[in-house]
Amino acid sequence: MTLVAIKYTRGKLEILDQLLLPTQSEYIPVKNSGDGWNVIKKMQVRGAPAIAIVGCLSLAVEVAEDREHSTVGDLAHFICDRLHHLVTARPTAVNMAEASKRLTTLMKDMAAESGQRVDTLRERFMKECEDMLEKDIAVNKNIGKYGADHILAQCKNKPVKVLTHCNTGSLATAGYGTALGVVRALHEREKISHAYCTETRPYNQGSRLTAYELVHEKIPATLICDSMAAILMDQQDISAVVVGADRVVANGDTANKIGTYQLAIAAKHHNVPFYVACPSTTFDPNLTSGKDIEIEERPSGEMTSVKGIRVAAHGINCWNPAFDITPASLITGGIITEFGVFSPADLKAQLADCLKTDN
Ligand code: MRU
Repeated sequence: MTLVAIKYTRGKLEILDQLLLPTQSEYIPVKNSGDGWNVIKKMQVRGAPAIAIVGCLSLAVEVAEDREHSTVGDLAHFICDRLHHLVTARPTAVNMAEASKRLTTLMKDMAAESGQRVDTLRERFMKECEDMLEKDIAVNKNIGKYGADHILAQCKNKPVKVLTHCNTGSLATAGYGTALGVVRALHEREKISHAYCTETRPYNQGSRLTAYELVHEKIPATLICDSMAAILMDQQDISAVVVGADRVVANGDTANKIGTYQLAIAAKHHNVPFYVACPSTTFDPNLTSGKDIEIEERPSGEMTSVKGIRVAAHGINCWNPAFDITPASLITGGIITEFGVFSPADLKAQLADCLKTDN
C-alpha cells in the first residue's frame, strides 16, 4: 500500500501529521487557508511540492464553503489575498509562490471578463487546485523514469548504490516523490543494490520520514548520520547522490535542505555524480543566482531539543538555517525534471522549450 500524505475530496482536506511520524500515523483536518498556513509553518506537512498542494487545497476547501463573497470581484480579491498570505508561511520553496502567481493571474483575468459568474470562478479555482494534486504524481513518475534511465546509462545498467538527503518521497509530494521517486523507479527495475539516507539534522526528515518510506517500500537501505557522508563515499562504491530542491534559479544554483551543499562538495571530491531531482514548478527563472534566494531560519528549539527533551547545553547560541545553496558547478550529474535530465547551464532554455510545447 502506498503512503498517502494528503487526503482530499471536494470540501474536505486531511493531512498525515508528519510531526508524529514514524511512531504515530494520524490525519488532521485542514479546514481553511488559516489551518493550511499553520500546518505548513509548523511543518506538519513539508516538502516543496506538498507545501504548494496543501496550501492551495486548504483554500479550495474554504472557497467550497464560502458564500460570504457574493460577487466575482469580491471572491477573486479574497482568493488572491489568501494565496498571498499562504506564500508567507515558508519563504524558500518556490512552488507555493509559483502556484500563487499563476492562480492570481487566472482569478484576475476571469474577474475582468464581463458577464463572469461567481460560481464559475469558484469552480475553476477549485478545479485548478485539484489538478495540482492529480498532476503531481504523473510528474513525479516521469522524474523517476528519466532519473533512473540516466543513472543506469552512466553505470552501464549495473545495480546502483544511491545516497539521498532529507525527505523527497510520497510524504513530500502528492505521491511517489522526486529524488526518492528516482530511488523508487530504480527499485521497480530491480536495479538498486542499496539506498542510503541521511538523518538530516536538525529536523530528522531522513531518519523519521525517508527511512520510514524506504522500510515501507522494502527497498534495501541504511541510515547514516549526516557527518558520515564523506566516509560513506570513500568506503562504499556510491553510484550517485540524488537530492530534491526547494528552488532552482536561472543559473542552476539550487536551494535544498541544509546539508545538501556539503554532500555536493564531498561528492565532487569522490567523483560521485550529484543529481538534483525536481518538478519544473521548482524552477525560478526570475532569480539569477543562488545568492538571491531567501533562506528560511527556523527556531533554535529544533536544534536544542528532540521531542521536547533538551539535548544541547542551556545557554548556547544557535544558528538554524533550514536550507543551503548548492552552486550549479557541483551539480555534476544533472537536474532531473519531468521533461528529462538537463545540465544546470542548459536548464533555463530547455525548460522554456518543454513548457512551450507542453501548453
Ligand atoms: O524543510 P523541508 O522538510 O520542507 O525541506 C524539504 C526539502 O528540502 C526537500 O528536499 C525539497 O522540498 C524537495 S521535496 C520533494
